[in-house]
Amino acid sequence: ITALLLGLLLLALLWRKMSRPKGFPPGPVPLPVIGNILQMGFSNPLPALKKFSEEYGPIYSIYLGFTPAVVVRGFKDLKEILVNKGQEFADRPFNRLTEDISGTKGLVLARYGQAWKEHRRFTLSTLRNFGLGKKSMEERICEESVHLIQEFKKNKDTLLDPHFVIDNAVSNIICMIVFGRRYEYNDSTFRDILNLIHENMKMATSFWAMLYSAFGFVKHLPLPHQKIFRNVRVFFDFLERVLEQHKRTRVHGQPRDYIDCYLEELEKDQGERNKLTFDNENLFISVADLFIAGTETTSSSLEWSLLYMMMYPEIQEKCREEIDRIRGDRDHLGYEDRVGMPYTQAVLLEVQRFSSVVPLGVSHAPIKDVQLNGYTIPKGIMIIPDLSSLNYDEKLWKYPHEFNPENFLNSEGELVKVDSFLPFSAGPRVCLGENLARMEIFLFFTTMLTHFEFYWPDPKSPPDTTPVFGISQAPKHFKMRLVPRI
Ligand code: HEM
Repeated sequence: ITALLLGLLLLALLWRKMSRPKGFPPGPVPLPVIGNILQMGFSNPLPALKKFSEEYGPIYSIYLGFTPAVVVRGFKDLKEILVNKGQEFADRPFNRLTEDISGTKGLVLARYGQAWKEHRRFTLSTLRNFGLGKKSMEERICEESVHLIQEFKKNKDTLLDPHFVIDNAVSNIICMIVFGRRYEYNDSTFRDILNLIHENMKMATSFWAMLYSAFGFVKHLPLPHQKIFRNVRVFFDFLERVLEQHKRTRVHGQPRDYIDCYLEELEKDQGERNKLTFDNENLFISVADLFIAGTETTSSSLEWSLLYMMMYPEIQEKCREEIDRIRGDRDHLGYEDRVGMPYTQAVLLEVQRFSSVVPLGVSHAPIKDVQLNGYTIPKGIMIIPDLSSLNYDEKLWKYPHEFNPENFLNSEGELVKVDSFLPFSAGPRVCLGENLARMEIFLFFTTMLTHFEFYWPDPKSPPDTTPVFGISQAPKHFKMRLVPRI
């Protein structure tokens, strides 16, 4: 009887810990201890999040174990938290898993404050000035796309899974900016690094990761989340070697890349430094952040673009006509050329809309207690911005549930700006690589279509477009047939 009573008392205490405070948004009833984790589904929580909003409205709360989180959907409320009250919601929440990996350093998961501001400003200006007096970003992307085309050509007589080649090409752009070098497509060590990052991007949103974040004691249990830590160790060893090599070979006053620029800052005496929060740990995590954030998001967008072009050959052909017309007898287009190419631009925007590459953005948190639409949101609470909710909203799109570039074109075939489309999020924490990503997607895509026609190899079984859910959504691996044009 004592054990039963103690059990009931414990259950009541746990239940109390998980009951919503007054003024907090409503939401589905959490189960004791695990909260709503089971209801979210093991492979993809997006359908469950949509269903909850049908019952509780565009702002509601869920429990990930004992951790409450507020989900925000729809343009009005997303604009409120990201832009109108952007500063108040610009923090990141506590997350045991990521905090055990990178603390609160770097860029993506850095807490709101002086360190994040200085690193964001420095990174944006280094990206803008990149080339460091030598080559522009655009030239570097064009050079990389030549390598990509050569690699594709090697496979013209077979079926090619484009995943590794595209991933390597996209990652090379970040590597050139940050490490000052690129990696060959047959470099198996580098391929392993890219693979384990993919694996972690998927596992970071898995049931096991949620369980770990909810319960600290899970850390030492032999469960699948241990793989995340093993992958991180291999990746960090790789970065350690790159940083060591930079420290050994750099020449003062002649920075070759992002790492060298940062090391120049670190070298300055404390007195003459205006970047007070710079240190070796922040350098390390910022480099890791750029490498991770800058690779999978962009490469998945390009893979989706190829998949859709094979599913809709008439759209592929229409893009190619526009590309050929503007290109004339040049080998490839420049980024400026996009201005005269509304159709191709609309297609690339539609790829981003329809695939929702970063469906739930990155979690935010209020820097203090905030009022939101009549609810009280306490400081530090996890806010999940459901960016994907905008992409299929029937009030916002002409063709919400089909892949159709007309969603971004008016009746004259001109490009229309859709303010409620936020693939890169918005406000103070908007994606730092937005311009770079747009440039990469345009230049790689147009170069691929210039040089090849792409065909789905088996018309009898159409592509499976169910995404592999993770922080970013990639298509399942697929093979394509490519026919060289020039
Ligand atoms: C943050 C999307 C490419 C670097 C983000 C966020 C989204 C996003 C939704 C979260 C913003 C927020 O917290 O509200 C995308 C998409 C990309 C892409 C869809 C490609 C198609 C890149 C690239 C880089 C990059 C190429 C590398 C330069 C970052 C960084 C942050 C970020 C550093 C954190 C910003 C901060 O917390 O201040 N991105 N991204 N992203 N992205 Fe991207």
